[in-house]
Amino acid sequence: MRINKYIAQAGVASRRKADELVANGNVKVNGLTLKEAGYDVVQGDVVEVNGRRIEPEDKKVYILLHKPVGYVTTVSDDKDRPTVMDLVRDVDARIFPVGRLDYNTSGMLIMTNDGDFAYRLTHPKHEMPKTYRARVAGVLSDEKCAKLRKGVDIGGFVTSKAKVQIIRGVQRQTVVDITIHEGKNRQVRKMFKVIGNPVQELSRIAIGEIKLGRLSEGHYRKLTREEIEHLRSC
Ligand code: URA
Repeated sequence: MRINKYIAQAGVASRRKADELVANGNVKVNGLTLKEAGYDVVQGDVVEVNGRRIEPEDKKVYILLHKPVGYVTTVSDDKDRPTVMDLVRDVDARIFPVGRLDYNTSGMLIMTNDGDFAYRLTHPKHEMPKTYRARVAGVLSDEKCAKLRKGVDIGGFVTSKAKVQIIRGVQRQTVVDITIHEGKNRQVRKMFKVIGNPVQELSRIAIGEIKLGRLSEGHYRKLTREEIEHLRSC
């Protein structure tokens, strides 16, 4: 981690002030006054500011990101595609995505450095409801909606009860909200494919009671304390 970020995470100063501290010779690493502002702190380094040893606090951070299409939900990508980490570069904590959205799916993604919280949220036993808005090809008949609500076989797995609400029909397409309780790989796309209405656009618009709202694509905000508690209680 960059020295200025390390100092900021220790709660000593902002990143900009941290740069000044380095420039003024107030920072030592392993007993030696630091000369480079771009120094990357490695594990085992002892960092001192004005003679006092510092360590970054592991302050818990909870972020709601509006993931755009075209980003992978991983910390790094071996094909060098943009990752969601590129969108949260200025967050002073080692956060990671909770769960996953496909490369071609946009919408709400929670990111945190709280491992217990992430575990609870993704554990199947908590059955956290997630709502997606899908634009699908064709018309969704009442029979098809009933099938989705009851559960469909997506290849060796029958989905549990879902909520389905048609928002509008547009020419030969339908915009529909669907709430599911599992998180199988590409589940929503598979569900609509099985009934013959392939997904053309997909966005996650809510997790539990928390809504994506008007947050613009590529932007993030902190979850409120109430939202964090809500997700913990699900
Ligand atoms: N279901 C999908 O098909 N894709 C997602 O990204 C999330 C749910």
